[in-house]
Amino acid sequence: MPDLRPAGILATGSYTPTRVLTNFDLEKMVDTSDEWIRTRTGIVERRIADEETVTSDLAFLAAEAALADAGMAASDLDAIMVATVTPDMFFPCTASLLQHRLGASVAAFDILVGCTGFVYALAVAREMISSHAYNHILVVGAETLSKITDWEDRSTCVLFGDAAGAAIVGPVPEGRGILGYSLGNDGSNADALKIPAGGSGLPASHETVDQRLHYLAMNGPEVFKFAVRAMIDSSEEAVRKAGVQMTDISLVIPHQANLRIVDAAAKRFHLPSDRFVRNGDRYGNTSAATISSFGAGLSWGSLVLRW
Ligand code: ACO
Repeated sequence: MPDLRPAGILATGSYTPTRVLTNFDLEKMVDTSDEWIRTRTGIVERRIADEETVTSDLAFLAAEAALADAGMAASDLDAIMVATVTPDMFFPCTASLLQHRLGASVAAFDILVGCTGFVYALAVAREMISSHAYNHILVVGAETLSKITDWEDRSTCVLFGDAAGAAIVGPVPEGRGILGYSLGNDGSNADALKIPAGGSGLPASHETVDQRLHYLAMNGPEVFKFAVRAMIDSSEEAVRKAGVQMTDISLVIPHQANLRIVDAAAKRFHLPSDRFVRNGDRYGNTSAATISSFGAGLSWGSLVLRW
C-alpha cells in the first residue's frame, strides 16, 4: 500500500442563471419588504433558473468551466460527484446525467447532505485521491432551489437562489491541499429543515400536493440557533485537525445562508471582517452550490485548504 498523498483543488468553475429576482420583486409576490429581508438576512437579490432549466444544466456549465480552468478534458476524470438537494429527479442521480453529458465514462454518484453537501463531497474526494484509488475527481455543488421553494411562503422564499460551483480535485505537492476537515450531523433536529412529502414516508398524493408538502419547509429560528454554533465549532475543529491556528486563516468562505450568521462567526474567530467572503447579498442561500458549514440533517462541515 503506497503512502497517503496530499489532495486539493486544482481548478474551479461556476455558473449562475442570468435572471435576477430582487427583494422589490418579492414585495409584489408575498407580504414582505426589502427592508425586512436586508436587515434580517443581508440578501438583496438572487438568481433564478427559468422553467426549462434543471440542476444538471447548471452542473454541466460549472463543470465545463472547471475543466477549462484545469486545462483538462472530461476523459481525464476518474469520478464525478454531485452534491445537491434538488436533483433533476429522484433517480437516477444527477451525477449520472452529468457524466453522460460530459462524455466521461467514470464512476458517478450524488451526495445528499443539504447545504453541507459540497464540503462532504470534497472530503470524500480527498480520501479517494489520498489513497491512490483515483487521480482526478470532479466535485459539483448544484442547486435549483427555486423549484422546491413555496413561492407563497414568505418565511422561506426570500432566502434561496440557484447556482452551481465545480472543483477538480487531484494530487498536490506536500503541505498543500485539504489539510483537515470536520463533518457532523444531528438527526434529532431533522424536522427543522425538510421536504415533508414525496419520499417513502409520505408518498405523493392529491392531499400532499394540496397541503403544499412537496416544498422546502424550515423552522428558521431553530436552524439559525444551530447554524451559529455549528459554523463556529466545526470551523474550530477543522483548523485544529489541519494543525494550524485560527489566526493563520487568510480567507474564510462561509455558507451564505444569512449574513448575520457570518457576522456572528467573524466576531467569535477574532479575524478581520475582510477575511470573510460575503456574496449572499447578490446570490442568497444557494445550498450545496456554496462552500458551506451547516444545512439539512441537520448537518455541518468545514475544511481547511492551503492553496
Ligand atoms: N418578510 C416579512 N416578515 C417576515 C418574513 C418575510 N420574508 N418572514 C418571516 N417574517 C415575520 C414572521 O412571520 C415573524 O412575525 P411575527 O413576529 O409577527 O410572528 C417575524 O417576521 C420574525 O420571524 P422569525 O422567523 O423569528 O425571524 P428571524 O429573525 O428568525 O429570521 C430567518 C428568519 C431569516 C429565516 C432566520 O431564522 C434564518 O436565517 N434562519 C436560518 C436559515 C438557514 O440558515 N438555513 C440554512 C440551511 S438551508 C438548506 O439546507 C437548504
